[in-house]
Amino acid sequence: MGIIISLLNHKGGVGKTTSAINIGAGLVELGKRVLLVDLDPQANLTLSLGIPRQPSSIYEAIRGESDLVPFQVKEGLDVITSTLDLSGAEMELINEAGREFILQELFDPVLEDYDYIIIDCPPSLGLLTLNALTCSRTVIIPLQTEFLALQGLAKIKQVIDKVRFRLNKKLDIGGVIATMYDSRKVLNRDVVETIKKYFGEKVFKTYIRDNVALAEAPAQRKDIFAYSPKSNGAEDYLSLSREILERLETVEA
Ligand SMILES: Nc1ncnc2c1ncn2[C@@H]1O[C@H](COP(=O)(O)OP(=O)(O)O)[C@@H](O)[C@H]1O
Ligand SMILES: [Mg+2]
Repeated sequence: MGIIISLLNHKGGVGKTTSAINIGAGLVELGKRVLLVDLDPQANLTLSLGIPRQPSSIYEAIRGESDLVPFQVKEGLDVITSTLDLSGAEMELINEAGREFILQELFDPVLEDYDYIIIDCPPSLGLLTLNALTCSRTVIIPLQTEFLALQGLAKIKQVIDKVRFRLNKKLDIGGVIATMYDSRKVLNRDVVETIKKYFGEKVFKTYIRDNVALAEAPAQRKDIFAYSPKSNGAEDYLSLSREILERLETVEA
């Protein structure tokens, strides 16, 4: 039965999409079956993996015009693609009854096909993100280890608490990822300490180092394990994927 994970931060450029792709690919390296869901109208995840426009993306599925149609990237790794059309979805669904439960309903029939479903959330806290949180078992928050990393986090926590209270009792914050970390920079080290003070044990022990291969891989339309398996990026995301498995499998057991 697939465990649904949302990668959430209302800020752009913090490493959500990079983490969604490479945690997904890391879990596949560890033998899991993974579905990645691109829920961002910018469609960066879809484009970074070089997936051509599909007749049925998450947008058509959310509108009830088609089922979810996964695209296979490689053995064990499927993607539900996004398109810019998705940017209109929040407005279009505003009067829909049960509008926070649309994704949950869509995923129900495919849960058995995957071990993990990873949702790359848009950089906002609107209806698409509420849908992601309503169907998720856990939220993982990537934080860039730069100035203002924690700014606006109170708002994210508030939204998660509200969803837990009203829509999804099982929801928790499964972890916080420190991204784009450079141990030579005092600022990065300081920010990690601040993040640890705020989130304590939730912060994953693996920090994702600043690594150029992670930024290059999307241009080659590849995940980091296909692009540069010996890079720091591959090492970090594999180690993070192991940590995620350990955490989630203890919680579920
Ligand atoms: N650890 C890293 N090292 C170097 N560049 C990174 C790293 N993580 C992400 N990037 C780059 O930073 C930019 C923003 O990352 P992205 O994952 O797209 O963030 P988000 O999805 O939160 O907007 C992208 O160009 C990406 O390639
Ligand atoms: Mg993104």
